[in-house]
Amino acid sequence: MTIDTLTIARPDDWHLHLRDGQALQAVVAATARQFARAIVMPNLKPPVTTVKLALAYRERIELALRAAGVAPGVFTPLMTLYLTDNTVPDDIVQAHESGSVVAVKLYPAGATTNSDAGVTDLLGRCSAVLETMQRVGMPLLIHGEVADQTIDIFDREAVFIERVMKPLRHAFPELRVVFEHLTTKDGVEYVRDAAGPVAATITAQHLLYNRNAIFQGGVRPHYYCLPILKREAHRVALVQAATSDSARFFLGTDSAPHARGLKEHACGCAGCYTALHAMELYATAFDQAGKLDKLEAFASFRGADFYGVPRNRDVLTLVREPFVIPTELAFGDETIVPLAAGESLPWRMA
Ligand code: DOR
Ligand code: ZN
Repeated sequence: MTIDTLTIARPDDWHLHLRDGQALQAVVAATARQFARAIVMPNLKPPVTTVKLALAYRERIELALRAAGVAPGVFTPLMTLYLTDNTVPDDIVQAHESGSVVAVKLYPAGATTNSDAGVTDLLGRCSAVLETMQRVGMPLLIHGEVADQTIDIFDREAVFIERVMKPLRHAFPELRVVFEHLTTKDGVEYVRDAAGPVAATITAQHLLYNRNAIFQGGVRPHYYCLPILKREAHRVALVQAATSDSARFFLGTDSAPHARGLKEHACGCAGCYTALHAMELYATAFDQAGKLDKLEAFASFRGADFYGVPRNRDVLTLVREPFVIPTELAFGDETIVPLAAGESLPWRMA
């Protein structure tokens, strides 16, 4: 029997880029329409490195929500700090006491967009901070790719596990860790089998596409994100993980808006814009796997449980009706192209 209507507890997005200024204003309502909460990434220019900056950013997000007509309390941004070589343990204590900053993000320096201020040597430079995070229970959200440009771009996640993730978790076995935007079978096996408090987010694009999508009939910049799409065997492993009963895999869109001109460029930015149609994309992936019954746990339960916050009580309904993805959307003075623009998905939000 096919399911044509799916009502689930309102989901949360555990990995999101909201940007700032007119970009923030352009995208924030899309996330608030589908999700109750989101973990907001701190890779602004300059990065959000202190609690003071994080609280000021949160205020700007609240103002943008009100300006977009989103009622107070409908959507809660959960703030993060950007870890640098110069972060000190007191920053963590302040974050812990703030009640608003819920996690710290690790970008290996040079690994991705706005990561220049990131960490150069995690255990060498950040041990006191990691010790404090472990003690207060503050999660470390990890962009799990080595920045070493001599390593093949498709291997950077697997190499990161050996070079950074294993030594980190050996030194801090009780540190709460989220392996963000997991993209490989190696990553799935590591997270599934590791001892201790480890979880992972998975994006919609990594469930729906393999690396062929980037080169389908020509270069397709809107399918370029980091970590980059991998080969089919990895996509299959990610679908298995997301639709399994493991509590460790949950939803994080990594929706990463860039203006059209910066994507369709000689040196295009990394990032897929999925805030518009995130749940439609995930529903399509779960439906293709014959696992729609597992979508609620992945989208609405496991992330909240990992972060130790209540599950949402209101609901979201998806219906099996075609959703034609717009070819572009307004983005301040520019436009933005959503993932799979112009294509039709079999599910839409009711
Ligand atoms: O594709 C990506 N875009 N990956 C990242 O890690 C950063 C993000 C962004 O901020 O644009
Ligand atoms: Zn991201």
